[in-house]
Order: sequence, then C-alpha cells, then structure tokens
Amino acid sequence: MKCTVCRGPAVIDLRRHNANFCPEHFLRFCRDQVVRAIDDHGMMAPGQRVLVAVSGGKDSLALWDLLVELGYDAEGMVIGLGIGDYSDASTAAAVAFAEQRGLRLHRIDLRGEYGYDIPTASAVTRRVPCSSCGMSKRHLIDKAALDGGYDVVATGHNLDDEAAVLLGNVLHWQTEYLGRQEPVLAERPGFPRKVKPLVRLAERETAAYCVLRGIDYMVEECPMAAGNRHLRYKAALDEIEAASPGTKHAFYFEFLARAADRFRPEAAAAQEGLTPCTSCGAPTTGEVCAFCRLVERVGGREPVPVELVRPGRRRGKARKAGAAT
Ligand code: AMP
Ligand code: FES
Ligand code: ZN
Ligand code: ZN
Repeated sequence: MKCTVCRGPAVIDLRRHNANFCPEHFLRFCRDQVVRAIDDHGMMAPGQRVLVAVSGGKDSLALWDLLVELGYDAEGMVIGLGIGDYSDASTAAAVAFAEQRGLRLHRIDLRGEYGYDIPTASAVTRRVPCSSCGMSKRHLIDKAALDGGYDVVATGHNLDDEAAVLLGNVLHWQTEYLGRQEPVLAERPGFPRKVKPLVRLAERETAAYCVLRGIDYMVEECPMAAGNRHLRYKAALDEIEAASPGTKHAFYFEFLARAADRFRPEAAAAQEGLTPCTSCGAPTTGEVCAFCRLVERVGGREPVPVELVRPGRRRGKARKAGAAT
C-alpha cells in the first residue's frame, strides 16, 4: 500500500477518500480537514480564546493537539464524572497530556464540587446514566466558558458521532434537535459559542492521529454507556459504511447543505421564553434549571458503586430518543 501523495509506504487507507497515507501525509490530511471545517463553517478566528472540553479520549486530545498545532490559544477543561476507574483514568490522561505540553487544564470534580457523581445520579433519578451525564457536562462546560470569558468552546465530536446523532434524530423525527445539529452553535444569552472542528474526521482517524503523534489517550469506552442507543446507531452506520464508503459523510454533510435550515425555526422557537435559573442564572424553561434540580436531589448522597448500576439498562419511563450535542 503506497501513500497517495508521495508513493512512500502507507500506514492507513481511507476508503471514503479513496486514498492511502504515510504518517506525514496522514497528519497533514488531519490538519487540512480541521482547517477546512473551521473555515467552511466560520468556527473561530486566530487569536480567539478557545476552551477545549477534554474527556481524555482520542477525539478531544487529538482536537486539543490539532488546535495548538494550528496556533490557537486553546486551554482545556476536564470534568471528573465519578464513574469509577474509568473517570480516574480519563482525567489522568487529560492531565498527563496537558503537563507534557505545558498547557493549561481546568479541572472540575462533580463529587468534590457538587456532591454527586454520575452513578449516583443515575440510581437516584432512575434514568439512563447518559441523561444526567450529558446534562451535567453541557451545564458545566457552558458555565466554565462563560465564567472564564472564552470566545468559543470546542468539543471532540467527530463524523461518526454526528452521523449517529443525526440518524437517531431522524429515526424519531426530533425536529427541534435537527435544527440545532450543526457544527457551530452561535453564542446566545447564557450560552457560549460552541464548535465541533472534528466533524470531517472519523473515529478511526482520530485514533490513528493520536497513535502517530504519541498521544496516550484513554482507550476504554464509558462502562455506563455500553449498549445505549447511540452506540447501536453507530454500529448500524458502520455496517452501511463498510459496504458503501462515504455514506456517513454524505448523510451528515448533505443534511447540513440541504435540510438543516428547514428545522431552524423549530430550534429557535424552543429557545424562546428561556429565563435565568433562580439559583444559578443559567437559561431554563422553568424556575430552577435541570442541573440545580439534580444537585438538589442527588447532592450529598452516598456514592453508588459503578458495579451496582447495570450498564445500558433502561430505568424508569422512556425518554426522548434524540440528542442535541
Ligand atoms: P461524549 O458525549 O462522551 O461523546 O463526548 C463528546 C465531547 O464532549 C468530547 O469529545 C469532549 O469534547 C466532551 N467531553 C466528554 N466528556 C468530557 C469530560 N469528562 N470533561 C470535559 N469534556 C468532556
Ligand atoms: Fe457519560 Fe458515560 S460518559 S454516561
Ligand atoms: Zn506520503
Ligand atoms: Zn441552575
């Protein structure tokens, strides 16, 4: 297998681009894809202060590395979710990355600062862990960005993530979420600007990027997410992609080009009538926001060991299926 650019020995084949790359040209390909995503969607400008939400996994560490390489002023933030060894190792990977490169990493610990963790939240609310986890992460990432005066928050969502979320939103016709499923979310009162610079890269590519750059990332996936809907949609798309390379890219980018606009009014309507949470000031539909209600309900409870919370098992009533990321 030869590199499409230099004819030297290739280390990776990218079927959807009908190309193979040697290490040097693969790294260049990754940078080019990120630059293109940033330019095409007007994500951010050089000189702006960027907060990278870092999980310790391949995507967010690759993202942080790429943004720093491209000259952005990018600091990181990691949230300790309290999901046993998984969270400890994830935070450790983020801390090691930052220390090795002399980058600034902000750390937030759910249990230390808010008195709960995700296994306990899941057990008390009797909902799938990803529901309180996603809500907590969104709230704390937004808060950190606003409090720290950052111009933009960057997350490590990749093409596989976005295509799988899109599939879920289409399967259940979550029109409000479809109107918000774009690689850039503009700043609004109470919400920072949010961007996803990895949307043109697949999961396999961010993993290869980390290996080639010597980035030690947390390889294991979250034990509490095992068997969830999002992973099933990913597996279904993987099967289609294997038979027809390029399908995920077309599914997501043709949605952006041809359909996303149509759903914007629904997303905008859902944003109307938001008022500041009486407890923390974050925008909410009710009086007290979902995060503050969760802290009130779960804060200070004894931790529930991860093993007692069966991964992927649905608890309580069916939830809305889609997700806005
Ligand atoms: P996930 O929702 O786990 O697929 O993660 C999507 C993105 O959210 C990641 O690429 C990160 O940018 C961010 N993220 C996930 N987990 C954390 C965490 N524990 N702390 C900070 N950011 C996170
Ligand atoms: Fe949130 Fe697993 S990382 S439930
Ligand atoms: Zn080459
Ligand atoms: Zn609140």
